[in-house]
Amino acid sequence: MLIEEISLDRFRNYPSLHVEPVPGVNILVGDNAQGKSNLLEAIYMLATTKSFRTVRDTEVIQSGQSQSRASATVRQSDGSSARIALTLGRSEQKHASINAASTERAVDLLGVLRAVVFAAQDLRLITGEPSCRRRHMDLALAQTSLPYLQDLGAYKRILLQRNKLLKSLRERWSANSGLDAWTSQLVRYGIGLLLHRRDFVQEMSELAGQSHRELSDGAEDLSVHYHPNPSLQADDGPELAKERYEEALQRVAEEELRRGTTLAGPQRDDLRFAINGLEARVYGSQGQQRTVVLSIKLAELDYIEAVSGEEPVLLLDDVMSDLDDQRRRRLLRRLSGRCQTFITCTNLRGFPDEILSQAGLFRVEAGRIERFCL
Ligand SMILES: Nc1ncnc2c1ncn2[C@@H]1O[C@H](COP(=O)(O)OP(=O)(O)OP(=O)(O)O)[C@@H](O)[C@H]1O
Ligand SMILES: [Mg+2]
Repeated sequence: MLIEEISLDRFRNYPSLHVEPVPGVNILVGDNAQGKSNLLEAIYMLATTKSFRTVRDTEVIQSGQSQSRASATVRQSDGSSARIALTLGRSEQKHASINAASTERAVDLLGVLRAVVFAAQDLRLITGEPSCRRRHMDLALAQTSLPYLQDLGAYKRILLQRNKLLKSLRERWSANSGLDAWTSQLVRYGIGLLLHRRDFVQEMSELAGQSHRELSDGAEDLSVHYHPNPSLQADDGPELAKERYEEALQRVAEEELRRGTTLAGPQRDDLRFAINGLEARVYGSQGQQRTVVLSIKLAELDYIEAVSGEEPVLLLDDVMSDLDDQRRRRLLRRLSGRCQTFITCTNLRGFPDEILSQAGLFRVEAGRIERFCL
């Protein structure tokens, strides 16, 4: 898929903007704090309705303004195109429209534009809390599987209710509180999350391993391991998963009542990354960790393409600076001729001439973007 045109209105530091990117590599170059990442953020929000930088979406509304709007024309590989728009107000309400028809919910936008982003804060995928890794799985799966998105929404609602009930039971015990009903709902939707995540990570590990071998020129072997909660075997089907889940909940039942919160389930899952068998979080160098994240992102790209039949748009926010010349060149080689890519940087040093001669070059300055030629 391709973004043919993007427009922004009162979004971050853009009072108003209209850009027409090229189908291949787009390089956004500019000094610090000029709006490079802000543009990538807008594209990502049009794909997922969420920012990759903040959990408070209203931050993107230009200061002093009451609403913000981003829109784009997206062309699919079959030649059809759609115009999508997302409007955000201060009350945190988001409105989406597809071809000028407004939709009930902003999530209806999902799937029209698909994007994979790699930004500096994505290193948290390795160094951060398990919640960063779960969020990563959720964002990738939500873009490719509607059942996953529905299970996730239902699971979160049920978990919240069940935790509320557990908390109230901690204060005042009652035998027929309805806890069992919540538990069976929790298991029902939780299994969907667990099995989807397990299959996703299995495929990701394979794809990320390939990318990582390419980027490290065969020197490093990357593997990704899923640590589900409750623990599952690689070939457990829904029935066995249900049994294990129920057993796990039974084991922690007393403690749940004592602590007033749910203690087993996919809200406690985690992922591990290993380079040549050693855990990347502990033993990886900064450049290696960065390459792992990049490999995961490229794998996500391959995964989304395989599942949806459309190549997502790739957003690379300031990734060039931390890679050595070799890895940078291999990355660009891997990307050229593939999907539409947006790369931000503060200067063009380190880009090979053959990339620069074919890329769309855009100068970003104080909330304005201009195309230029070398
Ligand atoms: N809601 C907002 N309203 C107005 N301006 C904003 C808003 N949010 C951020 N900005 C401004 O946007 C600018 C930062 O833009 P951005 O993060 O895109 O920079 P950048 O070009 O990626 O810089 P760097 O090279 O440092 O990453 C800052 O000047 C910031 O003050
Ligand atoms: Mg930036």
